[in-house]
Amino acid sequence: MSRAVITSIGGFVPDDILSNQDLEKMVDTTDEWITSRTGIKERRILKGEGKATSYMGVQIVNEILQKRGITPDQIEMLICATVTGDMIFPDTANTILDKVGAKNAFGYDINAACSGFLFALTTATKFIESGTFKKVIVLGIDMMSSIIDYKDRTTCIIFGDGGGGVLLEPSEDEGYGIIDSILKADGSGRAYLHMKAGGSLKPPSIDSVLANEHYVYQDGKPVFKAAVTGMVSTIKELLERNKLDMEEIDWLVPHQANMRIINSVAEMLDFPKDKVMVNIHKFGNTTAGTLPLCLWDYEKRLKKGDKIILSAFGGGFTWGSTYIVWNY
Ligand code: UT7
Repeated sequence: MSRAVITSIGGFVPDDILSNQDLEKMVDTTDEWITSRTGIKERRILKGEGKATSYMGVQIVNEILQKRGITPDQIEMLICATVTGDMIFPDTANTILDKVGAKNAFGYDINAACSGFLFALTTATKFIESGTFKKVIVLGIDMMSSIIDYKDRTTCIIFGDGGGGVLLEPSEDEGYGIIDSILKADGSGRAYLHMKAGGSLKPPSIDSVLANEHYVYQDGKPVFKAAVTGMVSTIKELLERNKLDMEEIDWLVPHQANMRIINSVAEMLDFPKDKVMVNIHKFGNTTAGTLPLCLWDYEKRLKKGDKIILSAFGGGFTWGSTYIVWNY
């Protein structure tokens, strides 16, 4: 069996910064509260007429292609994890493929909120392992500013815009690449994290907009607790299944939702903090974007053979962990 290996990475964050000091002027909050409760100092916001999630996707795909030295027509498939696609339909993957000129590819979106990148990566891995395709792009991108209420201090301080992606290709060397994934879901968790209106359950209306139901609703505490337990349990299961100890792991790449969640996960696993990828202070929570943004940010520090665990938790609830041995 061929393994799916990551052969190129791209990332994108918009230039515009929304700092904690900016938020102090918008809602009843302080830099001290946001920093101590979440670890976030600033986040990026995508601005500009006509710019949406596909705009960020195009920048990411172009970086991936340029770094690998291949052309758009060589892409065979693209999976885009997002909850903030340009439109409810069509999918944003196809818009991105059109805009980059990938004439020989098809694609689709995956909606698994903050776990979306892991769900998409695992799906794409199967297309490579089965021998179906040789060049598949996986993106995790969100423009959270499009669904955030900047009058709600419990959510607007957390989220930001951005994302990243990887190119997957086959390798005959079984020791490298995407080795294993554990993915989980519990739909009853939708009560704590959702958007009330805009879907078929409650199509958008003047009333739904006046009631702010087109924005993210989150009951943070239960999400926080479930995030820590879900990430730790899938990491432990993954280690056991692959006969690994946490001491053998070179990098933990956790979803960047809250620095206190990241610290709790590391502490419960007795894992050193300097081996945990963190960029939440710069970018906040970019939902499906956080994991590839971390890999992109830390790419220069990665070495061939590094053992990496990615772990995420998010809306659905969805959660999971993936074990990768770095390929370059
Ligand atoms: O990525 C998707 C998954 N999402 C997550 O993993 C997020 C998980 N949850 C969290 O990260 C945290 O629950 C939050 C950051 C959302 C909230 O932090 P918390 O420590 O759970 O705060 P809390 O909701 O218990 O609120 C504590 C207090 C409350 O005041 P009272 O009732 O004690 O008087 C809030 O009203 O802090 C207040 N508060 C704020 N104060 C200043 C809530 N938001 C703010 C704010 N600034 N921005």
